[in-house]
This record gives sequence, C-alpha cells and structure tokens, in this order.
Amino acid sequence: MTLWGGRFSQKLDDLAWALNASLPVDQRMAIQDVEGSIAWAAAIHKAGILTDEEHASISLGLDTVRKEFASGEFIFQPADEDIHTAVERRLSELIGPAAGKLHTGRSRNDQVATDFRLWMLNAIPEIQAAFENLQAALVEQAEAGLPHPSPLPSERGLPSPSGRGAGGEGEPIIMPGYTHLQRAQPILLGHWWLSHYWALKRDVDRLQDLTKRVSVLPLGSGALAGAPFALDREALAKSLGFDEVSQNSLDAVSDRDFAAEYLFVCSMAAVHLSKLAEQVVLYTSAEFGFFELSDAFSTGSSLMPQKKNPDVFELTRGKAGTMIGLLTGLMSTLKGLPSTYDKDLQEDKAPVFAATDTLLAILPVMAAALRTITVKPERMRNAIDSTMMATDLADYLVEKGVPFREAHALAGKVVRAAGEGKVRMEELPLEAYQAISPVFEADVYQVFDPLESINKRNTVGGTSLQSVKNQIRKIKGE
Ligand code: ARG
Repeated sequence: MTLWGGRFSQKLDDLAWALNASLPVDQRMAIQDVEGSIAWAAAIHKAGILTDEEHASISLGLDTVRKEFASGEFIFQPADEDIHTAVERRLSELIGPAAGKLHTGRSRNDQVATDFRLWMLNAIPEIQAAFENLQAALVEQAEAGLPHPSPLPSERGLPSPSGRGAGGEGEPIIMPGYTHLQRAQPILLGHWWLSHYWALKRDVDRLQDLTKRVSVLPLGSGALAGAPFALDREALAKSLGFDEVSQNSLDAVSDRDFAAEYLFVCSMAAVHLSKLAEQVVLYTSAEFGFFELSDAFSTGSSLMPQKKNPDVFELTRGKAGTMIGLLTGLMSTLKGLPSTYDKDLQEDKAPVFAATDTLLAILPVMAAALRTITVKPERMRNAIDSTMMATDLADYLVEKGVPFREAHALAGKVVRAAGEGKVRMEELPLEAYQAISPVFEADVYQVFDPLESINKRNTVGGTSLQSVKNQIRKIKGE
C-alpha cells in the first residue's frame, strides 16, 4: 500500500522506491505521528467529516498502534514508504476501511512538519537536562577549588573525592590564565571552570528561546493551500501542546527555520564543548600536567604501553566539526528551494537526529569525566611566574600617581632587567627598581603575590575569590 498510485499504470522502480522511502529515518517520529493523527481525527470529527462511530473506531485503532510502538511490538512492512504510511496501513489492518477517512484534508506535507516539530519539542528538554548535568559538574569543580569551611563532623575522616577539594580549607587553587596561549595573568581555577559554565548557559538559553519558534502548528495547511472545511486549528494546536498556529499555509509546509536554528544551537554548543575539550587535552599533557583523567575516561595505545589518551575529549572536539557540517548541509538544502513543499525537505530530519544523538552521547561522558578528573594544584601554582604580575607592577605605579602608559613602560623595564640578570622579578634588589624609577618603594615586593593579584580583580565577573563566589551564588539563585 502506498498513499498514492491511482494515476499510475506502472509500479515505482525498486531502486527509485528505495531512494524515495524515508522510513529508516522518520520512524523515530512514530509516536508523534500517531499523536498528530489522534488529534487530527478529533479535529475532523468536530468539523463533521467523521461520524461519532468512525471517530471512536479510529481513535481506538490509533491507540492500539501507539501501544504497539511503545512496546516495540509494531511490525513494519517492506512496503511502508514512510512513518505516515506505516501508521495508516496498520490502522486499516486494525479497523478496516474507516481508516481511509483519517487523511481527509491532510497532506503528508503538513503532517511531517507537525511530527518533526513535536519530536523536537520533546527532544529539547532532554538535551537541556544533559547540559544542566554538565554545568553542575563544572560548578562542583569550581567549588572544589575554593577554600571551604572546615568539614562537618559527619564528613570528617571520609576520603575526599579524587583530586577534589585540593583547594582545601586554606587557599583557593590558582592557575595561569592565558591569552594567545601565553601565560598572561594568574586566575582562580574556579573562575576557569565557570567560564565554561556561562558559555553552556547561553546554549541552554538559546534552546529555550528556540522553543517558541518550534511550537507553531503547521497541521491544517494541507499540501500547501489550507484545509477545505471548517477546522478549529487553535483547538487542534492546543490539543497537541503547540503555543500557536501557523499563519500562512505556503510558509507552514516549507518552513524549516526551526530545524536550521536547532542545528545552529547544537553547533554553537559543540563549539563550546570543543573549546573546553581542547583545554582538557592540553592540560592533561605532560607539558602542562594540570589535570589527570581517571582511568575510566582515558584510553590506551595498542603500541605504546605508557600512553593514557584523552580520546573522549578529542572526540568531543572532533564531533564539533561534524556538527557544523550538519548545519551547513541543511542550510545548503534550504537555499533556493521553490515554494512550497519540495522533496528536498526530506533531508531535514537526519541531521537533526544526528545532532541530537551526538550531544546526548557527548554531554554525559564529559560530565562524568570532569567529575572524576584529578586536579594538580602544585603544577598550576608552579606555572605562575612573577612576570605574570607585571601588570600588577604597572598598577602599583599607577596607584602612586604614574600615568598608566609610563607605568607600563617602567614595568617592562623591570621585566627586561630581571631577564638580563637571569633572576626573577622579586629577586631584583630595591636599588635596581629605584634605578628604573624612584617611585618604587620597599612595598613593591607585595605585588608578586599571585593571590593578591587575583583578589584585586574584584569587579563583577573578575577572578577574585569574592567575585567567583558571587558567580556561584548567582548560578544557584541564592
Ligand atoms: N517523507 C517526507 C518528508 O520527510 C514526508 C512528506 C512527503 N510529502 C510528499 N508530498 N511526498 O518530507
């Protein structure tokens, strides 16, 4: 059974049939297709197209079909061209000719767009939850790197989770912050973890914002021109959980903006995850040695016995490229299509499903791998050298009234003098400082405490301990 064929004298060529069929992809929308049909049956019943008996029979039949999908008992037939055909074919097996009335006034064009939107509305909260789990892992790590109050009596004596709590009771964990991948200024490790939190928060917000453009009902648009009978589309939308109905049938059957936008949101998120992954890859290398992955999230080499590879993070980085390809692919498909529905649009689902699967595969693994990562506070601390406080040295002069431009040049001279003398900046004697500028006094050496430097950056969003605590408070809605 196909949903067409009356005007054809020959059956479709087998290879053409295989090319045309979309069941392998669109069977993922089975439940949505059945739900859309149940709502459609109610709508056309209300419009006087179905008798009470026909409506009851169709509803009951569709309910059975839904149960068969839910339990995995549904059996597809080789002739099922797509999910819509499969559902209608099964319905007619269950209830007989009355099934043939279900498609009245409806086209697969408005049907598929409806199914797809319903599917996405379902997927978005699942992806958001996966993001929120990873965000929670980032916040936990940020907190673990801050000094915490002495443990509760009940917690005393319990081993701390691997590598966590290294911030301990006293000082926060500090690390070099980089620009151009060159050591720049000291920062709190917690500030670094949270920088990734905020990027992911924007992704979650974007998913939320996208929802209102997904939640527009195309059903009732027919093939392209609308439905030929009095249909209460508002009620139909409500029954399916859509916020509004589409306002132009030509646009409704061809609009795939929501799919492209979804792929952009997924791609942007994948880029964020890739940037995080790249830093973990770098920081777990022997050259940095800031982190060590737990064995459960590292892989070995078949040749080199010593290797411990961050494959999970490399794959996250790699999949961002694939993800961007999905977005680019759909945008290219959409470009230049004549209005309204074109079969090209069948290419919309595979990338959206693939993007969803990719994120749902990456996000939980990233979260678990980050929760079990070992932080090496000593390595981070030792990577901070006093030249990273050169800005603070300039700021010190500024506080004493030197214009910043001049202060910058004087601090630069100190960096050079230390370099030439092969000593650290804090090892230069006061006379050497005063030879550069008489403004330098004995208190200059305080400038080289990295935690001082960090805590001075106390503006909203800065790296100071107070500011990082404020970020966490804000995240937790306190
Ligand atoms: N499989 C099609 C798709 O995914 C369903 C709509 C087909 N419409 C049609 N007139 N052939 O887009």
